[in-house]
Amino acid sequence: MTKSQSVAANLAVLFTCIGRRVSLLNSFRRAARQLKVNASFFGTDTTELSPALQLCDKGFLVKPVAHADYTSELLSIVKRNQIKLLVPTVDLDLKVLAQNKPKFAAMGCCVLISAPDVVDICQDKRKTYRFLLKNGFDTPVTLSVRSALSQKKLNWPCFLKPWDGYASRGNAVVNNRKELLFFAKRIPNPICQEFIKGTEHTCDVYVDFSMKVRCVVPRKRIEVRAGEVSKGQVVKHPDIMSKAARLVETLGAGPGVITLQLFLTRDNRVKFIEINPRFGGGVPLAIKAGANFPKWILQGVLASKTNIRFDGFKDNLIMLRYDDEVWL
Ligand SMILES: Nc1ncnc2c1ncn2[C@@H]1O[C@H](COP(=O)(O)OP(=O)(O)O)[C@@H](O)[C@H]1O
Ligand SMILES: [Mg+2]
Repeated sequence: MTKSQSVAANLAVLFTCIGRRVSLLNSFRRAARQLKVNASFFGTDTTELSPALQLCDKGFLVKPVAHADYTSELLSIVKRNQIKLLVPTVDLDLKVLAQNKPKFAAMGCCVLISAPDVVDICQDKRKTYRFLLKNGFDTPVTLSVRSALSQKKLNWPCFLKPWDGYASRGNAVVNNRKELLFFAKRIPNPICQEFIKGTEHTCDVYVDFSMKVRCVVPRKRIEVRAGEVSKGQVVKHPDIMSKAARLVETLGAGPGVITLQLFLTRDNRVKFIEINPRFGGGVPLAIKAGANFPKWILQGVLASKTNIRFDGFKDNLIMLRYDDEVWL
């Protein structure tokens, strides 16, 4: 892997922070084969010890997202390799990609990212709460720690998490004021949420390049490892699907796949907790069930016609994940 070499292809796709996203990479390869498109798939990471980077047609080592040169490095990779589509895979670089989308567009590269104000609402859980409340979506009551502590009556337990958190980091269930005070000092930027009991679901919502929601796949989270689903099942739940579609339309998120997280309570209420404006880790399940997001996205980039049914995927499919190896 050298930085200077460039590879020409009919359709070049670049995944940033590609890490462990081997399944997503392979689903794009499959989609290109289905479309009979000659495509190349590139990736970036900060280390060569990145499984998906090793499996790309070509991998690029870049500075960490927070580095001042991150965007210029990406722009130069895009230019040298005539990248037509850039796909983010984690939360880290969404903001910077959203802000710099026009610079990539000027080079003929489409970045699969929402507008900066949308990314901002998604990445600040206080703003997500306000957005959901204002637009009539059910969501757990969310307070600042100070405001929670000043409540005369608070329903315990509560859920503490950072308003700018990701990957389930720094979360805690607190059962009383003492625990709340204890964890609030240890969790950075904490918010205090009503603790929701119910079945956790994720929704993959596909927004096409004309910003229309075309398909919603709810998946039940059966088991989670390190913040990412390890066992999941597709559940064709009409109420979740229509609420998820309305949410993403109201927010104006997209294009691409937007990943929503919600709880379905025992009395069948749909309570949204998070919006991730990128591919979720469990998206291979939706793709396998027939929601061929990679194909629709490649067709969108190629400006060819898509045939998408809102509920055109297999119900009840179960995904059980396991670790695999890459040898160097
Ligand atoms: N209000 C809540 N009640 C119960 N569980 C919650 C609540 N908020 C979050 N969780 C749990 O914590 C996990 C991480 O929270 P989330 O809001 O998705 O933040 P992030 O993924 O950015 O860390 C969720 O997947 C869910 O299992
Ligand atoms: Mg989450």
